[in-house]
Formats: sequence, C-alpha cells, structure tokens
Amino acid sequence: MKKYTSSHCWLFVLILLICGSCQSNEKQHFRIGFSQCGMDDRWREEMVEGMNRELSFYPELSMILKDSKWNNQTQYAQIEELINLPVDLLIVSPNDSKLLEPVITKAYQKGIPVLVVDRRVFSDQFTAFVGANNLVVGQHAGEYANILLNGHGRVLEVGFGPRTAPAIGRHNGFHSVIQKYPHIQYVDYLNKDWADKDLREALTQKLSKNPNLTDLIFAHNDRCALIAYDVCKNLGIEKKVKFIGVDGLVGNNLGLDLVKKGIINATILYPTGGEESIRIAAKILRKQAFEKENELFTSVIDAQNVNIMLAQLNKLKEQHADIERQATRIKDLTKIFSSQQAVLYLSFFFLILLLLLGAVLFYLFRDRQESNVRLSEQNEAILNQKNEIERISLLAKQATEDKLRFYSYISHEFRTPLSLILTPTQDILHRKTLDARETRQAFLLIQKNANRLLRLVDQLLELRKVDSGKMELNRQQHDLVSFIKDIVNDFQVKAKSQQIDLQFICPFKTLPFSFDAEKLDKVFFNIISNAFKYTPDGGAIHISLLKNVEKLEILIADNGIGMTQEEKERAFDLFYRGNQNISLGTGLGLALSREFLTLHQGEIEVESQKGKGTTFKIILPMLASEDIEGISQMPHYTKEDIEPTVVVDTPAVQHHENTLVLIEDNPDLRLFLKQKLQQFYNVVSVETAEAGWTEILSNIPDLIISDVMLPGMDGFSLTQKIKNDFRSSHIPVILLTAKGQTENQIEGTRAGADAYIPKPFNQQFLEEKIKGLLDNRDRMRRRFSGEITNPSQIQKGERKFLVEFELLLEKHLTESTLSVEKLSRELGMSRVQLFRKISALTNKNVTDYIADFKLLKAKALLKESDKTISEIAYELGFNNPSYFTTFFKQKTHQTPSEWRNS
Ligand code: FRU
Repeated sequence: MKKYTSSHCWLFVLILLICGSCQSNEKQHFRIGFSQCGMDDRWREEMVEGMNRELSFYPELSMILKDSKWNNQTQYAQIEELINLPVDLLIVSPNDSKLLEPVITKAYQKGIPVLVVDRRVFSDQFTAFVGANNLVVGQHAGEYANILLNGHGRVLEVGFGPRTAPAIGRHNGFHSVIQKYPHIQYVDYLNKDWADKDLREALTQKLSKNPNLTDLIFAHNDRCALIAYDVCKNLGIEKKVKFIGVDGLVGNNLGLDLVKKGIINATILYPTGGEESIRIAAKILRKQAFEKENELFTSVIDAQNVNIMLAQLNKLKEQHADIERQATRIKDLTKIFSSQQAVLYLSFFFLILLLLLGAVLFYLFRDRQESNVRLSEQNEAILNQKNEIERISLLAKQATEDKLRFYSYISHEFRTPLSLILTPTQDILHRKTLDARETRQAFLLIQKNANRLLRLVDQLLELRKVDSGKMELNRQQHDLVSFIKDIVNDFQVKAKSQQIDLQFICPFKTLPFSFDAEKLDKVFFNIISNAFKYTPDGGAIHISLLKNVEKLEILIADNGIGMTQEEKERAFDLFYRGNQNISLGTGLGLALSREFLTLHQGEIEVESQKGKGTTFKIILPMLASEDIEGISQMPHYTKEDIEPTVVVDTPAVQHHENTLVLIEDNPDLRLFLKQKLQQFYNVVSVETAEAGWTEILSNIPDLIISDVMLPGMDGFSLTQKIKNDFRSSHIPVILLTAKGQTENQIEGTRAGADAYIPKPFNQQFLEEKIKGLLDNRDRMRRRFSGEITNPSQIQKGERKFLVEFELLLEKHLTESTLSVEKLSRELGMSRVQLFRKISALTNKNVTDYIADFKLLKAKALLKESDKTISEIAYELGFNNPSYFTTFFKQKTHQTPSEWRNS
C-alpha cells in the first residue's frame, strides 16, 4: 500500500480552492434576443445605439439582434427562432402588434421574459413594456395645434400605419383634443403604411387640388412632417401651413434641427427607450424588482425651447460619446483583463499542472528511491546470501578436503606401525635359522607397534565420542601433584635413553583437585609424548604447576624444534591443512586433549618458536572447595604406552665399500633399517632432513634413503635439494614413505627421486632396489671411465657438471701450479666432495681425470697444430718439456714426436 503524505493532501486542498475561486468569479451570462421591426431610420438606429451603450454596463448580457425589415412574417419567424435558441429574455419592438401578438404570447408562455418596446401589444401576455404614451403624444400635438392656430383653422393628420399602436394612440389623442376646439376643423387623416414617395404623392395630390385645404399638418413623425413641408413648399404654400412632427431626434434634418431651422413648428419628443429597455431587461434577468409599465417622458419642443433642448441633448450626446468612449475603453480593458485573466488562468493552470507534475515526479522519484533502496537492500541480501553460500560451500569444500586429508593421515599413521609389524614378520619368516635375541627384538617391535595402532584406534573412537557429544566427565577428587608426578616418572626411562632433561617443577606437595583422571591422564600423556617427539636427544622437557585462587596452570615446555606461526595456530586442529609434516598422532592427541580440557571447562594454549621450542599451557579453573579427602585411585597410561625404543642400536662391525645416508623420523624404523642395511653398507642414520643434508654434504654417500613425511623439511624438498646441488646431484635417492598414492609417487619422481617405495615395504625389495641402483651407477661409471669429455649417457645435470669442470681445466691448463684444492674451491666444493663426485661419475680420481684430460688435449694438439712439443708442454702446464715427454710416454708408450709422426 502506497502512503499518501500530508503534502499530497495539502496540494489537493489547494487545487480545490483554486477551482472554487475560479467558479465563483464567473457570473451567469444571459442572452437577450432583440427582434427589431426595421432599421432603416434614424429613430430605430438610435434605439439600438442606446441599447448597446447600456449593454456596455452589463458585461454579463449579450444581445442577438434580428431585423425583419418591416416584414411582419419575417419578424414572426425571427421571434420563433429566438425562442428556440433559446434566449434568456426577448425584446420585441413590433411592427404590427396585432399580427405578432401570438408569437409574443408563445414566448411569454414558454417562460421567456418578453419586453415589448415602443409599440405595445394589446394582450397582457408580456413581461414589461417600455415606451412613451402615444395618446399623450397625440394630445400634446392637439393642444399645440390649437395654440399655433389660435383656436381657428384647419388641420390635416398624417399617420404611418392603420394597425400600429403609435398611430392609433397618437391619432386618438390628437383627434380628441382637436374636437374640443370648435373653430378648429379636422380636415382629414391620411394613414397608411407609407413608403416616403407614396406619402409625397398622396399629399401632393391632395394639396394641389386644394392648396387651402389645411392650415396645419400634424405628421406622426418628423420624417413625414418634412415630406409634408416639402410637398407644401413645392406647392408654394409652406409659409401659410404649420407643421407638427413627432420624435424630436438630434441631427441634421431631424426633428430638433427642423424646429430650429423653422421648417416645422414643433416636434413632440418621443424617446426610443433603448437604454431603459436594457436596464429593465437586466433587472428581470437578475430577478430584481421592476415595473411592468415603463412610460417614457414626452413633451413639445418648439422654437422656444429647442435651443435649450438641443444644448441639453448635445450635452447628453457628448456624455453618450464619453460613455461610449469609456465603454470602448472598458471593453478594451476588459479584453486586456480577460486576456490577462486567460493568461493568468492558463499560467495558473500550468502552474497547477506543474505542481501536479512535480508532485507526481516527486512521488515517482520517492517511489523510485524507495524501490532503489529496496533493490539495493535485496541486492545486498542476495550478495550476502551468495557470500554466505560461497562461504558455506568453501567451508564444506574445506571440510571435505580436511576429511580426505584426515583419512590420508590416518592411513599414513597406520602405515608406519604396520611397516614395523609386517617388515620384521617377513624378516623372521624368511630366515632359515632364528636367533633368539633378534627374534625377541622383532616381537617387541611388533608388539609395540600393535599397541600403537590400538592407541590410535582408541583415540579415534574417543574423538568420535566427543564429536557426537557422548563423552561424559567422570570427576573425582585426586591429588593433582602426585597425579602429574606419576605420569612424568613414567617418561623418565625414555628421557634417560634419549639424554633428555625431564623435570616436574611444583611448589606444592599436594593439590586436591576434582577431575576426570582418565581423561587428564591422556591429556598429559599426549602432550608430554609430543614434547618428546619434537625434542632432540640431549634436550629438555620441563613440566611446572602453578596456581592462584581462580585457576591452575600446567606448563609443558620443551626446547625442541618448535613450530611455525601457522603450525602453532592450527596445532589443535584435527583437520589441519598447513604443513603436511605434522603427524596425525600429534594432531589426534592434541585435538583430543583440547576436547577433554573443554569438558573440564579448561583451556589449552601453545607458545612456540621455530627452532627454539614449544610450551603448552593447560589452564583449569579452580572449583569450589577442592579438598584432599576422598582422593581416589587414579588410572593412567601404562609405561608400555610410552613407546620405548625397542630396537637396540648395535654398532656396525664391518666397513663396507658403499655408504648410505638414511633419514627416518620414526626411531624404531630408523634403527630397524639401519641394523638391516649395515650388514651390507656403511649406514649414517638421522632423524630429520636437515640433519640428513649435513651428512650428505660431509659424506657424499653412494645412496640416500629418506622418508617423505619428516618434521621440518620433507623428503620431496630434500630430494630436490640433493638433485639441484652439483655436489650431490649424482647420488641416487630412494624415497621411503607411508604416502602410497600414485600422485605422491609422481611428486617424488618429479623431485628427482630415483625410486619410490611405499610403506609398508618389503625389506628384501628395498635391499634389491638399493643394490640395483648402486650396480647401475657402477655400470655407468665403468662405461665412462675410458672417456673424458661430455659423455652423453650421463644424466643431463651431471653432464653439465663435467662440462663446467673441463672449462675450468681449460682455463687453468697452462698453470703448472694448478691443484685439486684450487679447482674444488672455484667449484664451491671441498676437496673430498670433488674427489667423490668425479669418482662417482667417472670412477677416476680427480688427478687421473686431469691427467687424462691433458693427454687428450696433447694428442689433439700434436696432430692438429704446428706447435712445437715444448710449446704444447707449456700450454698444458708442464714446467719442463721433458716432464711432458715422460708423462706422454707413460700413458701412450710413445714419445710425443712418435705420436705426431705416426
Ligand atoms: C420610426 C417611427 C417613429 C415613430 C415610431 C412609432 O419607425 O415611425 O418615427 O415615432 O416609429 O413606432
């Protein structure tokens, strides 16, 4: 659900207010329909002008004007048209009131307000009437005629339509007044829907017959009065006839002008009612109070008041002009205003649109931002999930690798004791006669290794138990001091045999403590065994016990080979992936120890420095009221478990031709192999690859046997080192290892090993292998003993060595003082190393090799050069040419000259 914020609500309210204010400003507009009977005279023009002028004050009113051009049917139809539009109000200035009455009634009955102007209808079916009273107009004319005629004379009346209301009204008024005066004679009434020329003709006809017919003509409007005057003038009687007109319009040859010029004697003012009708129409439309009958003022205008009238009317006209100007101005301003208003509204509209758009954009932006945030949150979550999955899969991969490694370690760890069970067994089985001492030793070895296998299996099972949470703690109170002391004592025999200084340092005589003796026994046993494993003969292992109120600390410190930082960090990790040389026995033992200590709410820490030693710190929390009473019997490992060295090192009795260097960290296997091999070879046995390398360099042996998994440098690295160093590169290497997989063999071969024998191995097979490799080397030596330079059969590395050696010889050939020491120094070897190397490769000693080299060189020089024998002798480093001749003859049984000439 999207939330509408308060800003959205405010915007909505603002829009409503703006729309409301726009609506309230807009006034209701009215349409007025105006049916005018004719427009071809000034009076009616003035009526329309007056209306328009007035309309300018009512912007809400507009007018539709219809001119019927004096045709009654047309006017009728036009009124109907206006009804049907419909208009809001109808103004009718009828021609023939009688004829138009039905359509006016129709409009009125339809609910359209009808305003009749000038000529009234005879029904009451209209809303209002505006116009002057024609009866009064006629009466004014009658009275004024009497005045003009001074009570005596004849009058002629001219009307403009028998059925029109003004004609009827004016005639009735005039006639009724004239009748009052006995000496005024009403001569005739000429009344028709005159066209001007028809009237002119009719009057001419009438007066030309009898020019004295009348003394006064009353015409119903000024236009007809002027026609009458014209006719009289034509007849030359205009001076004796008086004229009265109606309308009193301002303008050239209109009513007032005619009076002023003396053409007519008077005019009866008859206002058009234009302005008034609009005023009343507005009142009706605005639903304001109005009069139904609105009579307009009328009066007589003659020479007496025409000027005042004119002045007033001109003033009025000027005012009208002003008004019109102002109206135009107002109109213009209104136009400007409305266009500005339109612009304003438009701007307002666009502003609102803009605001709306802005709001929408803002909303969209916010929405987008929110969805972006959501999206990035989702992305992050996905990324986290991905990372988590990757992490878990990495962990799973590592766990699988660890497990695989663990299993390969297990098999490795099982292979060494198995070798030490199988090899002596095979040995005994192959013997024809059995020596009691040797047989006992073999069985001790078998027993020890069977026990070792058993212990390994036990440890594995215990770890599994801890892992599955089934291991329980059986705490009982014991004296911790005597407990540790007993364990340490058990190791004393081993310590003595290895000249290791083993001490238990404790400030207390007793220390009651509640613990699971069986488990802590394994912990101490493991850690002390471990210390022994990595402490060389002659080293020290010190165990100390410290205590404060809260905890106990037991330190097991040795000055053995120590650990690297990585080995230290992973010391307790069962599936340790780092240096593969760490023994599973250690790994299992330490991992198990940590688990047992955790069960005691204790901890184990390790401090170690490579080459300096290792200290394990066991921390056990002091529990409440440890007391000495009730100390129970403490089970612990038997002395047999301490892995005594069962194979006794018997010194070699014989000296043999070939020397072997044997590198094996398992003391039993090392001694076992040594004993077996020293029957045929001189054997130098060591525990580590580092020690092995030292022995190799000092002895330059004929063959090397090495284990692969060794503490420190492993067998592969050692092999590489041997094969890359020209002092030792010629020595065959046999890798003897528990790592039996093909890939390990490939690794060994790649390192340059000459043979790879997996454990458990067959002793006879090993012996045959050694023999084979040595024979091979001898064969090779024999083959090359006759040649000197660059024998192609020699291994590439060795060939390189010989080439380098011969180059060195070339360089120093002329020197008579050239010695083996000097050559070996330049090669970075000792004299013995060089001697052994050349001898191993060529079966010659270095001196013989140099002599043979010089001989070959001499032979070549004698045959291929012109040099003298003396020159050759010096060139080959002989101080004296006769020495050279003796040397040459000794080797070839020919003198150099004989050789050259042969
Ligand atoms: C104009 C006119 C006026 C007269 C009026 C009466 O058409 O003849 O001269 O006063 O009509 O309706």
